Amino acid sequence: MASRRTVAIARSLSAGFARRQIICQHSRNPWLQAIRAISTSPLQTSPAPPASSEASPAAAAATQTPSSIINKKRTFNVTKADAQPTISKHHKISFDDKKISVPWEEGKTSTFQHIWLRDHCQCSSCMHPQTKQRMLDTFSLPLNIRPSQVEPKDEGLYVKWRGDHESLYSWEWLHRHSYAPRLEKYISVQRKLWSKKDLETDMPVVKYSDVMESDAGVAEWTSKIEIYGFCFVDGVPVSPEATKEVAERIAHIRHTHYGGFWDFTADLAMNDMAYTDLALPAHTDTTYFTEPCGLQMFHLLEFDGKGGESLLVDGFRAARILRDEKPEAFRTLSAVRIPTHASGNEGVSIEPYTPFPVFNHHPVTGELVQVRWNNEDRATMDRWGEPEEVEKFYQAIFEWNEVLKRVDGEFREQLVPGKLLIFDNWRVLHGRGSFTGHRRLCGAYISRDDFHSRLRITNYGRKEILMGL
Ligand SMILES: [Fe+2]
Ligand SMILES: [Zn+2]
Repeated sequence: MASRRTVAIARSLSAGFARRQIICQHSRNPWLQAIRAISTSPLQTSPAPPASSEASPAAAAATQTPSSIINKKRTFNVTKADAQPTISKHHKISFDDKKISVPWEEGKTSTFQHIWLRDHCQCSSCMHPQTKQRMLDTFSLPLNIRPSQVEPKDEGLYVKWRGDHESLYSWEWLHRHSYAPRLEKYISVQRKLWSKKDLETDMPVVKYSDVMESDAGVAEWTSKIEIYGFCFVDGVPVSPEATKEVAERIAHIRHTHYGGFWDFTADLAMNDMAYTDLALPAHTDTTYFTEPCGLQMFHLLEFDGKGGESLLVDGFRAARILRDEKPEAFRTLSAVRIPTHASGNEGVSIEPYTPFPVFNHHPVTGELVQVRWNNEDRATMDRWGEPEEVEKFYQAIFEWNEVLKRVDGEFREQLVPGKLLIFDNWRVLHGRGSFTGHRRLCGAYISRDDFHSRLRITNYGRKEILMGL
């Protein structure tokens, strides 16, 4: 267990910030260790969305809380709080026809059904030691499988099954994966929601050399992106090749109909407003994909002109403001599904498999996990339950637009060669001012899952991550 003092420090440091269940106690990143906080139940940054006010019949289904059989642990990138769980000295491990009961020193008793335990055997013939993939043929097991012997050992719970297979489950593994009851304590890290003023004294920046030279540098970089929603990388050589190499320190680049790594000027080469010199209001990219791009990177290579400063707005902070000030608008934009498309290029017309709302919430915790907002890419909305919903929707997007355009939430900065910007496209909206002259920008997209994989592996280590699977 983390000491009381650690928890108290973490709690006080995280006060005032929205928290999210992501960080493991054993993070090697001291910066993250300082801000971790412990919670035994999931926390929310926003209330669960309503089950009405939808523009399409599918909306209601999507906003309902799914069945409780969903394994909550799998919904976080978290792991454990208790490093060395111990079994009770006073109560014995027992089993009956259906399950094994494991009493813990902390006073709780976990029960594990036989078929579940056998199916989760950790031995090297049931589970590949390297890939952690199941090699056991689950369907070769009798559904009513039972142990013939159950014994606590120093290393863990030994079970001999009828039919002679032997399994050993470490105490740590059993405690972490206990489902009746759930015992794992979620350890959270702050997600720091920022205004323009906050960034004056607290700007996320890392050094190019740190990112390129070690995984510890990548750990710091990815954790800053996670916590602030964006980060600068300073000291990058001014070339597309070097920029691409920086992106690839996180993961491979996500290709889209725009290609892979981009290097562009305002020539409308891609028939998208991004390729013009017009001002772009705060938006998220690729709302027309089922899974919008996770990270977006920009590096200004050349500029001789005026204007074109970059704009960032913390979408989670803006969503919280809308929720607090205009709850009805927040509910509407958590429910109404907005059709989107990308059809500028000949031969391409992309739409997500289903329209999504502006605010997308975690189906189990209700936590806000994604903002999708691009008014330019909105397609015709012609599916409404009741005509009044049209007015309600327009009221909501006007109020949302008003919050997004508040000056105190707008961080504007002129990008300069050598200082690259990367941001979380599921959270932070971006835009830019209109400009004159020649402007050459390069950059890339990275998928959200690839980013999170790198974030977790570099911050917690592979062993820790695999134990949680
Ligand atoms: Fe964009
Ligand atoms: Zn086995």
